[in-house]
Amino acid sequence: MFDKALVAAVLLNGAAAFPHIAELVAKQKLEEPNHGYLPRSGVVDADDINTGLWEAFGLDKTATIFLQTATSFFNGDPLSGRWSIGYHSDKTQSLGPLGDLLGNETGICAYGHLRSEGDASITRGDWLAPDMNSNCASYPQFMQELLDLAKARTGGNITPQVMAEHQYNRKQHSVATNPNYFSPPYAGIAFTFGAHMFAFELLANHSAEEPRGFLTPQVFMEFFSYTQDDAGNLQYTYGHERIPDNWYRRANDDPWTLTDIVISTAQQCASYPDNCKVGGNTGEVNSFDGFDLGDISGGFINAAEDLQDPQRMGCFIAQAIRADTPSFLDNVFSGAALTQVLGLVGTKLEPALALLGDCPNLPAGKSVFGMSSKYPGAQMQGSGSRNPYK
Ligand code: HEM
Ligand SMILES: *[C@@H]1O[C@H](CO)[C@@H](O)[C@H](O)[C@H]1NC(C)=O
Ligand SMILES: *[C@@H]1O[C@H](CO)[C@@H](O)[C@H](O)[C@H]1NC(C)=O
Repeated sequence: MFDKALVAAVLLNGAAAFPHIAELVAKQKLEEPNHGYLPRSGVVDADDINTGLWEAFGLDKTATIFLQTATSFFNGDPLSGRWSIGYHSDKTQSLGPLGDLLGNETGICAYGHLRSEGDASITRGDWLAPDMNSNCASYPQFMQELLDLAKARTGGNITPQVMAEHQYNRKQHSVATNPNYFSPPYAGIAFTFGAHMFAFELLANHSAEEPRGFLTPQVFMEFFSYTQDDAGNLQYTYGHERIPDNWYRRANDDPWTLTDIVISTAQQCASYPDNCKVGGNTGEVNSFDGFDLGDISGGFINAAEDLQDPQRMGCFIAQAIRADTPSFLDNVFSGAALTQVLGLVGTKLEPALALLGDCPNLPAGKSVFGMSSKYPGAQMQGSGSRNPYK
């Protein structure tokens, strides 16, 4: 059912931000029957994610439990498991009357930057770049680069190989244009590349002839809320992302799993070791300085190439999240809320990290945020007055 007031409310709340979110909400807003994959408010919890993303896209529970749990800790409310699929919403917190003062939960874009969301996204901007720096809005220039690359490589359709090469180009672009580019392990390797693969694995259309999926520019643009004018110029409209009509998701017996996410991330490190460097620019363009991976991983890995082994990749991500958890939480929560949330790490976060694989004798890693003073882009902020669209 089309309800103007609700549409306005959703947009004002910032519910519509990343395509995976907005399009689900849009489906609810604009069409009958109302599929209801995710709630209109843009504030989700574990059940919404585990059920909705399976039904809509065939993303299985190993993946959704891990993503949901980590995101509720770093960008949302670890107590209730709620988080905002856009920028900050005052509906996530369950900390009681002091609410936002004890823990201003960010949502996944805007001030959520560096905890899940990272630079060099498919079409979103780098949050601390000199221009085109909304990490919620999508930029036609980056979409055009992707479509041009697909045209050159396959004649038009977007494939996993095209996405991996696009990620390489996007990272090179950030190094060359953003003095504050920074790529930590979780947001910069796992998440950013995970999103690149979701864009094919979850958004591709499926048919009897092409059961593994095929992704035309038209389907991709509709998911991402793009249109093209007569001259071929791309136009992005915030908040109108949608699932195309007559689009078919992955088959139930071919789910996308957490293991698939880890394997495909490891494959990107094999093809493009530069994509898997941890570090950033030091305040000027083209000044990328990488961390010594042996140092931050306690000797568990020694070079980006080592991450091409999926088992090591899974363990490296778990290790990095554990090491960075105190900085992530300290940046958002304070006082009694911080104590309460830290108390949930063992019981709630650890079981989700265990899904990344079995890692016997894994040494403790070092937080990159504890050693990042030379990287201006590594300074996290929990809140502020920036317009998330700009
Ligand atoms: C619990 C589930 C999910 C969480 C927590 C999540 C979170 C995120 C985050 C933090 C980003 C920003 C990454 C970056 O900075 O590059 C992102 C981007 C993205 N996500 Fe998700 N996501 C989820 C599920 C999905 C699903 C189911 C899809 C597809 C159906 C999807 C597709 C995408 C795409 C295509 C982008 C890239 C947007 C762009 O750069 O233009 N995500 N997601
Ligand atoms: C998806 O693929 C099917 C089968 O080829 C086709 O009929 C349908 O039009 C496609 N959907 C879109 C949105 O392109
Ligand atoms: C919480 O964060 C939002 C977005 O950054 C900001 O507008 C709001 O003022 C913050 N609230 C408090 C109490 O700091």
